[in-house]
Amino acid sequence: MSHNSSICFTRRLSGFAFSFFLLFTFFTYSATAQEPQAPASDTAAAMQDTVATGGASIAGDIANGETLFSSYCAACHALDRKITGPALAGVNQRHDQQWLINWIHDSPGMVASGDPAAVAIFEEYNQSPMPPFPQLSEGEVIDILSYIEAETQALQQPAAPAAGGAEQAEDKGTSGITVIGLLVLAALLFLVTLVLNRTIGSLKRVILKNQGVEVAPEVTAKKDYMGGLKKLARNKKFIAVSILVVLMAGSALSWNVMWNVGVEQYYQPTQPIRFPHDLHAGAMEIDCRYCHGGAWKSKNATIPSLSTCMNCHNVANGQGSDSPTAEAEIAKIYKALDYDPATGEYGDNPEGVEWIRVHNLPDFAYFNHSQHVTVAEASIREAKGLKADDPVCYACHGPVAEMEEIYQFSPLTMKWCVDCHRETEVIHAEDNAYYDKILAAHEQMKKGGEGISVADLGGIECARCHY
Ligand code: HEC
Ligand code: HEC
Ligand code: HEC
Ligand code: HEC
Ligand code: HEC
Ligand code: HEC
Repeated sequence: MSHNSSICFTRRLSGFAFSFFLLFTFFTYSATAQEPQAPASDTAAAMQDTVATGGASIAGDIANGETLFSSYCAACHALDRKITGPALAGVNQRHDQQWLINWIHDSPGMVASGDPAAVAIFEEYNQSPMPPFPQLSEGEVIDILSYIEAETQALQQPAAPAAGGAEQAEDKGTSGITVIGLLVLAALLFLVTLVLNRTIGSLKRVILKNQGVEVAPEVTAKKDYMGGLKKLARNKKFIAVSILVVLMAGSALSWNVMWNVGVEQYYQPTQPIRFPHDLHAGAMEIDCRYCHGGAWKSKNATIPSLSTCMNCHNVANGQGSDSPTAEAEIAKIYKALDYDPATGEYGDNPEGVEWIRVHNLPDFAYFNHSQHVTVAEASIREAKGLKADDPVCYACHGPVAEMEEIYQFSPLTMKWCVDCHRETEVIHAEDNAYYDKILAAHEQMKKGGEGISVADLGGIECARCHY
C-alpha cells in the first residue's frame, strides 16, 4: 500500500539520518585521533638531536625573551613545529651563539655572504627569507635565545617517552575546536533531516488525502519512533540549551578563525605577476616615487598602471635573462595588456591585472600618506633613525628594496599607530609649508590680531575631509 510505503520511506530517511550522524561523529573523531600520530618528521628529529646534545645554559632574561619572542618571532616560529619558519626548539644546539646573533640581526645578509649553514636553511625553506632584526640589541637576542632554551628543556621532560609530544597537545588544541564545530554541524544536519521528515510525512498524507485514501491522523508506529524527539523539540528548556550550545561552539569557532586571520603582519600574498621590488627598487635603484608618487601628494600611495611598466618592458622582455622566471613573468604583463611583443602592437582585449592588496586598514581608520611622508618626514626619519638615502617609507614598510616580494612589515594595529605618535617628536624642518602655516597662524592668534580662519589652520586641505 502507498500509505505504508510512505511511512517506510520516512523511517528509512530518519534511519539514514541517524546512521549518517553516527558515521560522521566516528569519522571526525578517528580523523583527529590519528592526526597526532602522523610522524612529526622534522620536529621529532630536531628534538631527539637536542636530547642527545644536552641542554646548553644561556644567561639571559627569560621573561624578557618571551615578550620579545612573541612580538617579533611568534608570527613565523613556534618552538615545537614548523610554521613559516623552522621549529626553534634545540636551535641553540644546532648553531653557535655568535652565528645565531648574526643570523637574527641580518639573515638575508648572511645568506648573501654565502655562509654555508645560512644558505642551507634558506634553500630548505624555499628561499623564503626571514626579515632582519637590526633593532634588537645583542642582549635582547640572548634573552630570546634563553627563552628558547628554557622552552626546549621544558619540552623535553614530558616529551621524553615520545618525541613530538608537545606537538600532539598543540594539534589537539586547535582540532578540538574543529571537532566541536563538526559535531554541531552534524547535529544540525540531523535536526534538519528530522524536520524534513516531518514535512515529507505531512505532505504525503495531504497528497494521499486528496487522492481520497483514508489516512490515520498520526501514525502510531511513527509516533513511537519519533515521539520522544518531538516532545524534546517542543521542550523550551531543551531548545534554550541547544541554542546556547550552538552559540558557544559558534563563537569558539569564530575566535579560532579570527585568531588566525587577524594576524596579518608578514602577510605576503602571491601576486598575479611576481613583481620583484628587490630587483626594481634595489638592484636597479628605481625611486619609489616613479611608481608610488601618490604617497607624497595624497592619502593613497598609488599602485602604478601597467603602462608605467611598459616604459621599460616594451624592450626588456626577459629573453636571455639570467633569471629563469623573467621571461614568463614579463609575458604576463604583455598578456594583461593584450600586447604582442613580436609586432609591438596592442590588441583590443586587455584584461588588466588585479594586484592583491597587502596593506589594508579597516575603512573606519583614516590614514594619510602625504601627512606622514611629506609633512612628518623629518620627524619620522629622526625617530626611526633612518639612513639618509633610505626612503621614509622604510619606517613603516621595512626594507622594501630588499624584498623579493612585498610583505606587510608592520602590525598596522591601532597600538602601532598610537605608540609611534607618542614616541615621535615633531620636528619643524626648514621649508615645511604645513608647519610654517600653522606657526604663522599661532603667532597671529597670540597677538590677538585679526581673526584666524579654519583655513589658516589647514582646514581646507582636501585630505582633512576626504578619504
Ligand atoms: C617573517 C617570518 C619570520 C620571522 C618574523 C622570524 N623568522 Fe626566523 N626564520 C624564518 C624562516 C622562513 C626561516 C628559514 C630560513 C630562511 O629561509 O631564511 C627562519 C630561520 C630561523 C632560524 C634558523 C633555524 C634553524 O633551524 O637553523 C633561527 C634561529 C630563527 N629563524 C630565529 C628567529 C628569531 C629569534 C626571530 C624573532 C626575533 C625570528 N626568527 C623571526 C622566518 C621568520
Ligand atoms: C617599478 C615600479 C615600482 C617601484 C620602483 C616600487 N614599487 Fe612598490 N609596488 C609596485 C607594484 C606593481 C606593486 C603591487 C604589486 C605587489 O604588491 O608586489 C607594489 C606594491 C608596493 C607595496 C604594497 C602595496 C599593498 O598592496 O599594500 C608597498 C608598501 C610598496 N610597493 C612600497 C614601495 C617602496 C617603499 C618603494 C621604494 C623603495 C617601491 N615600492 C618601489 C611597483 C613599484
Ligand atoms: C625602469 C625600467 C623598468 C620598469 C619601469 C619596470 N621594470 Fe620590470 N624589469 C626591468 C628590467 C631591466 C628587468 C630585468 C629583465 C631581464 O632580466 O631580462 C625587469 C624584470 C622584471 C620581471 C622579471 C623578474 C624575474 O622573475 O626575474 C618582472 C616580473 C617585472 N620586471 C615586472 C615589472 C612590472 C609589473 C613593472 C611595472 C609595475 C615593471 N617591471 C617596471 C625594468 C623595469
Ligand atoms: C607612517 C607609516 C607609513 C609610511 C611612512 C608609509 N606608509 Fe605606505 N602604508 C601605510 C599604511 C598604514 C597603509 C595601509 C593604508 C590603508 O589601508 O588605508 C599603507 C599602504 C601603502 C600602499 C598600498 C596602497 C595604499 O595607499 O593603501 C602602498 C603602495 C604604500 N603604502 C607605499 C608607500 C610608500 C611608497 C611610502 C613612502 C613614500 C609609504 N608607503 C610610506 C603606512 C605607511
Ligand atoms: C613612524 C611613526 C608613525 C606611525 C607608525 C604612524 N604615524 Fe601618524 N603621524 C606621525 C607623525 C610624526 C605625525 C605628525 C604629522 C603632523 O604634524 O600632522 C603623524 C600625524 C598623523 C595624523 C594627523 C594628525 C593631525 O593633527 O592632523 C593622523 C590622522 C595620523 N598620523 C594617523 C595615523 C594612523 C591611522 C596610523 C596607523 C595606521 C599612523 N598615523 C601611524 C607618525 C606616525
Ligand atoms: C571642510 C571639508 C572639505 C574640504 C577641505 C574639501 N572637501 Fe570636497 N567635499 C566635502 C563634502 C562634505 C563633500 C560632499 C558634498 C555633497 O555631497 O554635497 C565634498 C565633495 C567633494 C567632491 C564631489 C564628490 C562626489 O562624489 O560628488 C569632490 C570631487 C571634492 N569634494 C573634492 C575636493 C578637493 C579636490 C578638495 C581639496 C582642494 C576638497 N574637496 C576639500 C568636504 C570637503
